[in-house]
Amino acid sequence: MSKIENITGKVAVITGASSGLGESTARYLSGQGAVVVLGARRKDRIDTLANELIKNGGKALAVETDVTDHLQVKKLVDAAVQEFGRIDVMINNAGLMPLSPLEYLKIDDWNQAIDVNIKGVLYGIAAALPYMKEQKSGQFINVSSVAGHTISPGGAVYSATKYAVRVISEALRQEVKPYNIRVAVISPGAVATDLPNSITAPDIAEGIHKYYEQNAIPADSFARTVSFVISQPEDVDVNEVLFRPTVQQL
Ligand SMILES: NC(=O)c1ccc[n+]([C@@H]2O[C@H](COP(=O)([O-])OP(=O)(O)OC[C@H]3O[C@@H](n4cnc5c(N)ncnc54)[C@H](OP(=O)(O)O)[C@@H]3O)[C@@H](O)[C@H]2O)c1
Repeated sequence: MSKIENITGKVAVITGASSGLGESTARYLSGQGAVVVLGARRKDRIDTLANELIKNGGKALAVETDVTDHLQVKKLVDAAVQEFGRIDVMINNAGLMPLSPLEYLKIDDWNQAIDVNIKGVLYGIAAALPYMKEQKSGQFINVSSVAGHTISPGGAVYSATKYAVRVISEALRQEVKPYNIRVAVISPGAVATDLPNSITAPDIAEGIHKYYEQNAIPADSFARTVSFVISQPEDVDVNEVLFRPTVQQL
């Protein structure tokens, strides 16, 4: 793979790196010469991935992280800076999509989605922002969704969390101007990952699994988008990327 400009040597912290979009992005960025610091709860999976990347000549570190605990997210970012001296990119990617109509009253799902998808992103900002302010450089990439741009039945809470990611990111973008920090939101449509497994309502899960099987595109579509955002020169701040499978209507 030929190397893309402005990626080699950058230190990128990725939450939700144990599967799907995060895992694919870790592989892709590492292939481009980035140093990747992997966070997720499933330590065995991020350990295996880090070892694979190191064996292939890359630099990687795995840190067990539950993004619903702000101290664990701080530990993840602190470990990146201790080990590699800086943080260039914070990819707030960990998330789940427990779709269901409100009338199912899945309050545990609502709480978990809010804790991971919204608070997890805020904790990622809290952990990385002080370092980036000090460095006077850095880039946040927060993962929203097509569901952060459109609303459909069954998606009330998930869409609310993904709209929130965009709102938080736009405020952050405006606030961090004095520190030369960049902020991007990436909003994917259906991408083939384990995400539909987070749906706990069997009737809803069945339909979504079928939709993903027929329509979802590979996870490297997301990784390439991340790499495009990171590879821009420092005076170019790409703020929003929305992409879907060509066949996806809504
Ligand atoms: N795939 C799509 O179609 C799609 C579309 C739009 C947006 N997105 C967004 O993309 C992001 C990544 O999802 P994915 O599609 O890659 O799904 P995935 O394969 O299910 O991956 C989700 C990742 O989030 C991590 N995670 C979940 N809860 C966590 C917690 N409490 N603490 C730390 N990590 C946690 C998981 O790691 P552990 O379980 O090991 O902790 C896993 O690595 C999500 O924000 C999702 O909303 C995906």
